[in-house]
Formats: sequence, structure tokens, C-alpha cells
Amino acid sequence: MEARYFDCLLVSLPRRYGLLALIWSVLVGGSLGWNLHLKSQNTMNTAIVAARSNISKDMSFRKWASAHGGVYVHPDEHTPPNPYLDLPERDVITKNGKALTLMNPAYMLRQMQEDFPGDYGTKSHITSLKPLNPNNAPDSWERKVLHTFEQGGKEVTEVQQIDGQPYLRMMLPFIVEQGCMKCHAQQGYKVGDIRGGIGSAVSLSPYLARDRGFSTSLMLSHGIAWLIGLVALGVTYRRDSGLSVERQQAQQKLQHQLDELLRFQKLTVGRELRMKELAEENAALRNQLASGRHDSA
Ligand code: HEC
Repeated sequence: MEARYFDCLLVSLPRRYGLLALIWSVLVGGSLGWNLHLKSQNTMNTAIVAARSNISKDMSFRKWASAHGGVYVHPDEHTPPNPYLDLPERDVITKNGKALTLMNPAYMLRQMQEDFPGDYGTKSHITSLKPLNPNNAPDSWERKVLHTFEQGGKEVTEVQQIDGQPYLRMMLPFIVEQGCMKCHAQQGYKVGDIRGGIGSAVSLSPYLARDRGFSTSLMLSHGIAWLIGLVALGVTYRRDSGLSVERQQAQQKLQHQLDELLRFQKLTVGRELRMKELAEENAALRNQLASGRHDSA
């Protein structure tokens, strides 16, 4: 059965070329699919790296501030003493009579992000299941992730729609270190506890726009390669089918000549036979004639 099928393929030129065109299309389609998959994976990885580096930069800044136990600055309208910072030495007066207030890391980062929004396209957000500042309360996604941190989770990423736009959200656990104890020990935290999480939301729109550009060029290049392949197959198909017609014609011509030869041979053989018959008849007649002359003499 199989052998007959392949025989058939070998014999039928259109079927053979149809199969080649199908294989070519599957190959090109497969390569396109694989490349599109790699590309979107790559886009996602780039966004993940952006979110992670944004978080680690903010994290190091906060750790630096924590290591100093916060930083004293001049209080003014823009930087009033933090009402959530409950420390006796929050507000101090220098020997020269200058007032200073202590900025905790969360406060510093918040102000930096507000004052230089251009440098902070991607904002990080710190949150906790037990927030000192109610403004730091987690949203539903952050709450879910914070619970996974309590169970030992490390890093969580998810694509979410925020105001109808796609965002990559990432959150890392925020662990209590010695420097944090000065302000957070009174809430009952110990070094090594999960104090909360620090998250970042990277807008995927610019990444997706670039992604679309890549997709278009991938589809174009594959489309062109596919067409070139099909045209090449078409050309060889035409040449091959032309050759087989020529072969057929040559075969027919040969057959015709062979037939002619046979017919001619038959004719010649017939003619020779007839000549032989005539010669015999002739000889017989001559004999008769000779014997007649004999008799009369
Ligand atoms: C100088 C005091 C101070 C230090 C040091 C400090 N924090 Fe805070 N932290 C605060 C205050 C006050 C708030 C709440 C008010 C705010 O948002 O400014 C806060 C807020 C937070 C929040 C947000 C949730 C909430 O409770 O509002 C997290 C998470 C947090 N801190 C973690 C840490 C970690 C981890 C460290 C150590 C690496 C640390 N903090 C060091 C004072 C401090």
C-alpha cells in the first residue's frame, strides 16, 4: 500500500511538487511561529529586567538611608515632619538653633519620585500587610503577593491591565535588617522577618509597540522567503513538466517510427513472397510450354 503510494508520488509530478510546496510552507510557518515566540519572550524578559533593575536601584537607595537610620533635613512646607515617624528624636535643633527633621527611607524615596518624575518613568511602591502609613496599604494584587512572601515566595511577576493599559507588575519581598529596627521594632518585627514588599509596574506599551515593529519585519522577511521558495518550485516544476512532455513526444515519435518499420518489413516480406510465387508460377508455365512443344514435335 505504502509502496504504491510512493510510486504514485514519484510518477505524478504535480503531486510531488504539491508536497514540496506544503513542506516548504510548514517549514517557513514553523520558523515564523518560533521566531515570534522567541521575540515576545525576549520582550517580556527585557521588561522584567527593567522592572528588576528599577526595584534594586530603589532598594539600594533605601538600604543606604536605613543604614544611616534615616537622614536629617531642614523641614519646610515641601518636607514637613513625617507624622507616621514615631521617634523621640524625629525633630531636633542644632547647637546653632537650626531645626532638623528625620526623613525615613520610604519618605525620601516618595519625595524623590514626586520631585523628579521624569527620571522615574517607572515608580516603585512599598507596601505591607501592616502599614504604618495607610497610603502604603496594598491593593488586591499586592495583598495576594504579600501572602505568598509570608509562605517563602521570592519574586512575583504578572501582566496586568492598569487603566486599560498593559503593565508588567513585579514585587520583591522586603526583609527586616538591623537598620530597619530603629523604626520598625516597635511593631514587633525581628531581623529576617518579611516587613512587606517593594513593587514596580513597567508600562508594556512602548515594549509592545517595538514588538509590533519586529513582528512586522519578521512576517515580511518570512513572507518574502516563502514566496521566493514557491516561485523557485514553480520554475523547476515547469521545467520538469516540459521535460516530461518532450520525453513523451520523443517516445511517441520512436514508437511511430518503429510501427512504420514493422509495416514496411511486413510489406517487403509480402512482396518477396509474391515474387517467389510468381517465379514459381513462371517456372511452371515455362515447363508446361516446353513439354507442349515436345509433344507436338
Ligand atoms: C528612620 C526610620 C525608618 C527606618 C530606618 C526604616 N523605616 Fe520603613 N518606614 C518608616 C516609616 C515612618 C514608614 C511609614 C511612613 C511612610 O510611608 O513614610 C515606613 C514604611 C515602610 C514600609 C511601607 C509600609 C508601611 O508600613 O507604611 C516598608 C515596607 C518599610 N518601611 C520597610 C522598611 C525596611 C525593610 C527597612 C530597613 C531596610 C526600613 N523600612 C527602615 C520608618 C523607617
